[in-house]
Amino acid sequence: MARLKVNGTPHEFNGDPRMPMLWWLREEASCKGVKFGCGIAQCGACTVHVDGRAVRSCVMPMAAADGVEVTTIEGLAKGEVLHPVQQAWLEEDVAQCGYCQAGQIMAVVDLLSRISDPTDADIDAALTNICRCGTYFRLRKAVHKAARMMRETRG
Ligand code: FES
Ligand code: FES
Repeated sequence: MARLKVNGTPHEFNGDPRMPMLWWLREEASCKGVKFGCGIAQCGACTVHVDGRAVRSCVMPMAAADGVEVTTIEGLAKGEVLHPVQQAWLEEDVAQCGYCQAGQIMAVVDLLSRISDPTDADIDAALTNICRCGTYFRLRKAVHKAARMMRETRG
């Protein structure tokens, strides 16, 4: 059995320990913002945070989930207040079809927690999530904007 928290809420898991976390999050924990793309850790659509770090949940078995804290796109905003990355995404109108975007945002939040003022090269190296709509240019602009907003907030 695994006990874990998802967006602050405690859960218990008693199923097949080989079940990918992505499946469980979508089907049992109602986190439909987490998307299935490839299932083999290549596209990033399934990215969530596990203990604060971006993880591709399609290849994380529930056997490894005991005691972890998971954050999905549903848990990023603080009530009505969007996370600065979400705010920058809206302002730069990043999304096209939207399918990859929750995973992109979760990956960016992780990046900005490690590098507060990333260069374009840092962004390209860190963000390997795939966008079939090719939103990379707007995405990069939004990362710089979010980074600025977060630095200003910190002072
Ligand atoms: S669905 Fe997990 S990386 Fe593509
Ligand atoms: S916005 Fe369509 S796949 Fe990225």
